[in-house]
Amino acid sequence: MKTNELREKYLDFYQGKGHTICPSDVLVPKWDNTVLFTPAGMNPFKDHFLGKVELEFTRATSCQKCLRTGDIENVGRTAYHHTFFEMLGNFSFGDYFKRDAISWAWEFLTDKKWLGISPDRLTVTVYLDDDEASDIWHKDIGLSTDRITRLGEDDNFWPASAPSQGPDGVCGPCSEIFFHPDNGPECEIWNLVFTQFNRSGDPPENLSPLPSKNIDTGMGLERIVSMLQGKKTNYHIDSLLPLVEASAEVCGRKYDADGEDGRRIRRIADHIRACTMAIHENVYPGPQKEEYVIRRLLRRAVLQGHEMGMREPFLYQLVPAVVDAMSEPYPEIKNTADRVAEIVKYDESNFFSTLDDGLERMDTIFTKLKSSGAKVVPGDKAAKLYQERGIPGELFESIASDHGFTFDWDAFKAAMVKHGEDSGAGQVGVMGDTGPVDDIKREVKLTEFLGYDCDEESGTVVGLISVVRQAKPDTGDSNSTEEQFELIQTRESELEPNDEQEQVLVLDRTPFYAESGGQVADCGMVEGPNGKFEVTDVQKNGDVFVHFGKVVDGMIRNGETVQAKVDTNTRKGIQRAHSATHILHYGLQKFVGENALQRGSKVECDQLRFDFSNLEGLSDETLMQIESEANRRVVAASKIKAEILPLEEARAQGAMMLFGEKYPDPVRMVSIGDFSKELCGGIHLDNTSDIGAFEIIAEDNVASGTRRIVALTGERAKANQAQVQEMANEVSELLGVSVAGVRDAAINLSEKVKSLRKQVSTGKVGKPKEVSVKAASDGELDYFGVRQAMRDAAMALEIPLLEVGNRVRGLLADVDEFQAKIKEMDSAEKVDAETLINGATQVGDVHVIVQHLHSSNPNIMRTLIDQVRKKTSPTAVFLATALGAEKVILVAGVSRDLVDKGLSAGEWVNHVAPIVGGGGGGRPDLAQAGGKNPEKIKEALIAASEFMNAKAAV
Ligand code: SER
Repeated sequence: MKTNELREKYLDFYQGKGHTICPSDVLVPKWDNTVLFTPAGMNPFKDHFLGKVELEFTRATSCQKCLRTGDIENVGRTAYHHTFFEMLGNFSFGDYFKRDAISWAWEFLTDKKWLGISPDRLTVTVYLDDDEASDIWHKDIGLSTDRITRLGEDDNFWPASAPSQGPDGVCGPCSEIFFHPDNGPECEIWNLVFTQFNRSGDPPENLSPLPSKNIDTGMGLERIVSMLQGKKTNYHIDSLLPLVEASAEVCGRKYDADGEDGRRIRRIADHIRACTMAIHENVYPGPQKEEYVIRRLLRRAVLQGHEMGMREPFLYQLVPAVVDAMSEPYPEIKNTADRVAEIVKYDESNFFSTLDDGLERMDTIFTKLKSSGAKVVPGDKAAKLYQERGIPGELFESIASDHGFTFDWDAFKAAMVKHGEDSGAGQVGVMGDTGPVDDIKREVKLTEFLGYDCDEESGTVVGLISVVRQAKPDTGDSNSTEEQFELIQTRESELEPNDEQEQVLVLDRTPFYAESGGQVADCGMVEGPNGKFEVTDVQKNGDVFVHFGKVVDGMIRNGETVQAKVDTNTRKGIQRAHSATHILHYGLQKFVGENALQRGSKVECDQLRFDFSNLEGLSDETLMQIESEANRRVVAASKIKAEILPLEEARAQGAMMLFGEKYPDPVRMVSIGDFSKELCGGIHLDNTSDIGAFEIIAEDNVASGTRRIVALTGERAKANQAQVQEMANEVSELLGVSVAGVRDAAINLSEKVKSLRKQVSTGKVGKPKEVSVKAASDGELDYFGVRQAMRDAAMALEIPLLEVGNRVRGLLADVDEFQAKIKEMDSAEKVDAETLINGATQVGDVHVIVQHLHSSNPNIMRTLIDQVRKKTSPTAVFLATALGAEKVILVAGVSRDLVDKGLSAGEWVNHVAPIVGGGGGGRPDLAQAGGKNPEKIKEALIAASEFMNAKAAV
């Protein structure tokens, strides 16, 4: 039986038993922060099991895309391990229980109409004291007792060992079904979990029966197919073998299952399948969390290729083979094949470019460790190798273990955190069932959302919670501030103002939008008969809206009828930004291409951030095109409407759908004119003209393959425009040129300042380079022309756009300051050689001149010394001057006859310069030094006199 056929059969079978077929959930369930990837078929149904959502059905079946990396070392090595795999499952939410779960599983496996496996090939296990399950297998199914084994909680409980080790939450005994093939060891094919307890605290008596019992079963698709097809490994089944063979081919090998390369090739096939499925869902290789997992997988696969001699990117060539293997059940992966291949190639090329060097450095580390007798790879060295050469710690660890070393994970993680990189492994997926919000969810199931039609409505308070940050007792081993606090949440019957608490309010119905789909939450006020609650944030927890904020007046009581009022000004700004986001997305598709797809967004009051896939930055021209298009769409006053329709119909109408997003069915579609259709739960305007103005203020890189645009709308766009325009007017006036001429005039000004600065510090007069300033008039410049002129100026000055005004003002002030200085220096030049000679002290026959010049520069000082030496000798001259508040110049000169006698100007300045915090040097007859303490000049000159008096007297 082929893989695709078996998948269908399974779902058909359970549909026939009254189950609703649910499509696979996404691989990265963003709504569930306890896992990075969907680890099992039950994951999307966690809230169903706990009675926290209104159930539309009580029996479900699915084939779920899963990804697990816990056993990654075994992938390729053993017959059955994968990272990405598909899990078949059937689920009961308080409906049928053990008897049906067991007898249907048996029927599906053994009935000729379905899989027709001979019962002789099957054995089962049950939990130690689960007589109920054992009896069903024995009495109802007719399995002899020697085919039923009782095992402990590490084998037959889910989560494994839950009773003794936790976690708290729902759990239950399970029964596993094993297949006995002809040519290998038995293999577990199906796990039937009887979720019947809620665990709370440590044993004993920590398992209480759940009011409604559930069924969660999981059967790995690849495994069961492998059994049925009589293969000795999953990698040889019909849906995987072609991919394995393609992997061998791109590596220039013939696939030999038993050789060392066979293991490598299976790993490559597994990892590229996982990467393709994840990148398709917009999880790109990156530095954190799920993205880091994908990066690791991709790089592990590259390393396997490298071990077989590959030195150029090759993995990307396997993407089409994955698409061939997986597109029957998941046809949408065809649409993104090119993009996925591009991303894979990009990351593997980066890795290849540093890999050889990285491996060499690793070898050096190993050699050093060996010679020092150490056994542990230092974590900080490994972290450095990841940061500089992209070698993930896990990869280092496994290579290290091949060399007989262990790995210091604690030090590795500490070094990564220090560098802002954190792989964020995520928790194991469990069904948490504790905390006051969970209680409220169980009671009310959902909050009715009214906000599409109104911004103010009445509702009833159905839950109040106070949250306090409490310091944890110091265990001495925590090094992050986060760990030293815990949040104590308490269900309250009433709340009053309390600065120590964060407060939470839940209503049965609300006009407040909860943050989702990139759109931030509404803020506003909830007014009760006895007080007011200010809402600062709203988050969805399942289908319940949780309002965060605080009571600002009086008191709010549970059960009260309140009036919930959204802050309409902020909401309008958010609506403008959200509708503009859709227009921007449309513009990107139009001018950048179909692959410029949304990867994330944040929609706030009149500001939006939009991340999209693209390897390169956008040119100014493209950005202008997108921006002009958006502004045309604003002016065109297109209608915006939202409608609820079946998912398939929305797809047929061409609605933009993002892979990796979970869309409900029916779904809400937001259309703008006839050019944009997106599936979106956000709140929009009715007409694009209400956006008012749209302006892109930044385009930047956020991660490899992902760019980010930041844009403004409405009030903020207008305020920004006014600011730019005002700045342009100001600088054009200051520079005395048209706005179009600002760039060139600013360049000239900056050159002039450079030249004046030089003149002040060296005395040399240079001519500044000049560019000719455009004489263009600004009559025709619209706002975007003005902005361009300012951008050009900003780029020439290498500063941000809005800094141009400040910089020009600063430069003009510099010109004034330097010119004043030069003027002062000019007048100071009146200190001439004659004056200096008149002030000389006679030491023996030497004229010693030591002088502080109040405004001078090195050039002038050297000239003066020359003039003095020409007029008189023997002579020794030492001059000092301050340049500004932080610079001192010392110049010393002695006449030739003194040099001949062994006196040195260089020695003189070197003796004195440290006093003013500097040093210098030069020829014996003329030397110069700099310093940085003008206030020490007096002291320096005393030392200079003493030095020469002593020398000259000899
Ligand atoms: N949740 C169980 C498992 O993962 C059965 O689906 O094995």
